[in-house]
Amino acid sequence: MKIEGSVALVTGANRGIGKAITTALLDRGAAKVYAAVRDVATVPTDDPRLVPVQLDVTDPAQVRSVADTLGDVEIVVNNAGIGRPATPLTATIDILKAIAGGKGPDRAILALGYAGWRAGQLESEIQANGWLHCPADLDLLFDRNLEQKYDRAMSRIGIDLSHLVSDAGHA
Ligand SMILES: NC(=O)c1ccc[n+]([C@@H]2O[C@H](COP(=O)([O-])OP(=O)(O)OC[C@H]3O[C@@H](n4cnc5c(N)ncnc54)[C@H](OP(=O)(O)O)[C@@H]3O)[C@@H](O)[C@H]2O)c1
Repeated sequence: MKIEGSVALVTGANRGIGKAITTALLDRGAAKVYAAVRDVATVPTDDPRLVPVQLDVTDPAQVRSVADTLGDVEIVVNNAGIGRPATPLTATIDILKAIAGGKGPDRAILALGYAGWRAGQLESEIQANGWLHCPADLDLLFDRNLEQKYDRAMSRIGIDLSHLVSDAGHA
């Protein structure tokens, strides 16, 4: 693909991977890069080759309008999107800032303090049958009914706590 002298359009060009792709296209000599973003005010104005374009990729009318209007586009990088990680656990402050800025995940739990394991420790404890584990279930994970959460997790693996006794035999 020839980038030098080309005209590109990048969706979600204002931050993250889209911003990096946009910078790379400009660095490699693209003649023009349309930065297709939800908020045109977030696009830097220091390079005249970077042209902000209003676009929410979930709005078919806006997509149609951009496609009809920008006839000189040769390269399209449809980068915009949101990630829904399968293992939504983080200890970084970035996620708190994203939530505070209205850009965080739809559902979140703030846990003060957490236990950690050294590399491989948890896996070996599971192999030694030291843990009961159930299939990942985000509805269960984010359910605010803490009182029932344990019972519901156990029922996911077919255990009814009322059938367990706390006394041990000594034979
Ligand atoms: N980071 C990773 O490890 C990873 C891995 C696999 C795939 N991806 C995919 O790579 C892409 C970029 O990821 P990223 O980490 O750079 O994400 P990011 O930092 O969260 O940035 C997402 C970008 O998409 C834009 N966007 C989201 N919804 C949009 C919409 N409806 N219309 C227009 N723009 C929209 C955001 O604009 P606003 O500023 O307006 O929110 C932002 O510019 C995503 O599609 C993601 O799913 C990322």
